Amino acid sequence: MNASLPILNDFDLGDRSTAADDRLIDSFGRVHNNLRISVTDRCNVRCVYCMPESVTFMQRSDLLSFEEIVRFARVAAGLGIDKIRLTGGEPLVRRDLPKLVAMLAEIPGIKDIGLTTNGVLLADLAADLWNAGLRRINVSLDTMNPVKFAEITRRPGFERVIEGILKAREVGFDPVKINALAIKNFTEEEVVPLAEFARANGLEIRFIEYMPLDEVGRWRRSMVLFAADILELLSKGIGPLAPATDDDPRAPALEYDYLDGRGRVGMIASVSRPFCMSCNRIRLTADGKLRNCLFAVEETDVKALLRGGETDETIARAVRESVAGKHEGHEINSARFVKPERLMHSIGG
Ligand code: 5AD
Ligand code: SF4
Repeated sequence: MNASLPILNDFDLGDRSTAADDRLIDSFGRVHNNLRISVTDRCNVRCVYCMPESVTFMQRSDLLSFEEIVRFARVAAGLGIDKIRLTGGEPLVRRDLPKLVAMLAEIPGIKDIGLTTNGVLLADLAADLWNAGLRRINVSLDTMNPVKFAEITRRPGFERVIEGILKAREVGFDPVKINALAIKNFTEEEVVPLAEFARANGLEIRFIEYMPLDEVGRWRRSMVLFAADILELLSKGIGPLAPATDDDPRAPALEYDYLDGRGRVGMIASVSRPFCMSCNRIRLTADGKLRNCLFAVEETDVKALLRGGETDETIARAVRESVAGKHEGHEINSARFVKPERLMHSIGG
């Protein structure tokens, strides 16, 4: 059997508002319960699709402190945010990150805290993160070939990432998810080895279509390896897959299970099948700007409010206004597309 992508009219429009609703609802009725917090724009590698070799990073004094992040998260929780994901740059280069996890875990209403990491520092920190209350981990890994790893990240470190992934499993993270960026003429050869590594180690792998958020001007539509092609490579190279029955319609990944019961793969088809209409996310950058979309060109200066002595009510109002002004979706597939000025590493993915 050849797995195929569900057709569009199967698409679940996500959690919709009702009249008396006090949650974060935009003008398209999308309810926002998911906050992504970038804790730094720094990174210990330099993935070619994310940032240039030489970068001017934010000043440390521009980064929100843990106390400021927690205050914002508390206000957001009061507006119905119940899921948080920590991102970067590379979040584990921010000192004492497990401490921030523990602080966020104490906020009433926050049910779920996740982390997206490149895995280089994970072996050392996995146990502390688990003990602090983190339960979800996504590790970025685009290849099982150490030479190609160094080409993509412009740094060595493949073995440490593998060690980090296995350590995270060992301390209790289940599942550990692997994020593999899918790039044409690169990822085709990687799909099967990555998927086999995932199957052998009880990991869930998700392939992400390459999006135009990289080093200025590198992205071309012709460089995107589409989810449908990856599914075909997987079903030929490993075995047949079928759409997962417990697939969460609001999650960006389309999930597939191997028919032999040995594992699951996800496709984040941001380009070929945008999931904007079920988007439930807002994003806080490391320098305290609120973004209502990965591709937003406008931001709300939360840091100015936090540092300007404003009340929680004022901050809450600013969050509501940002969500209210959210656009329908990205326009990667149209001539109207405007690339945001921020690169991926200073948004957090
Ligand atoms: N397109 C899609 N995903 C990207 N990531 C980084 N840059 C891009 C891009 N241009 C992903 C990485 C990592 C996460 C932090 O963001 O693969 O998993
Ligand atoms: Fe660092 Fe992640 Fe960007 Fe790679 S994708 S350079 S690991 S922030």
